[in-house]
Amino acid sequence: MVDPFLSENPRSDLDVGDISCQIVCVTHSHPDHLDDAFQIAKNNKAPVVSSYEISELATSKELRAEAINIGGSVDVEDWRIKMVPALHSSEIGPPSGFILKNKRLKKTLYHAGDTGLFGDMRLIGDEGIDIAMLPIGDRYTMGIEDALRAVSFIRPGLIIPMHYGTRPVIDADPEEFRKRCNRPVEIFKIGEERIL
Ligand code: NI
Repeated sequence: MVDPFLSENPRSDLDVGDISCQIVCVTHSHPDHLDDAFQIAKNNKAPVVSSYEISELATSKELRAEAINIGGSVDVEDWRIKMVPALHSSEIGPPSGFILKNKRLKKTLYHAGDTGLFGDMRLIGDEGIDIAMLPIGDRYTMGIEDALRAVSFIRPGLIIPMHYGTRPVIDADPEEFRKRCNRPVEIFKIGEERIL
């Protein structure tokens, strides 16, 4: 689970108590990323993988935490999780994204977190990204134009757009993104699951 946003999400009727997962990753401290994370980690006895600062907060609430920082990795379950930069803000710790390598499936995911476009996404692309989750909602993150430029840097096999449509200020049309993108795009419905 990365950045669960359920209880205050006007587009979601999922119950935090129904979520099962092995690991909870948190990219930064904004409430639409952090607020449900600790409860889900507690319910599942799952480690929180996040910045040193958010990990300290998790530990103070008697949760398991695996602290990492930009450029560092940690092995948890079947995953090797690396923290990468994000151009954003965060009250606690740095804003970040994650490169998540599943050793059993041999798949690599890039979850960009909340971020603007940055040139070092090319370096992230050099890691061989199978699936990239990229914000398209604009205003607080990249919009569609810059997300399309990010795709050219990251060169992923598949893109899942995210961080749009929960509030009017970040409305964006994922179909427009899909039409304009020269790589495969899958648009997920809220709560939809897909086996990789
Ligand atoms: Ni944010």
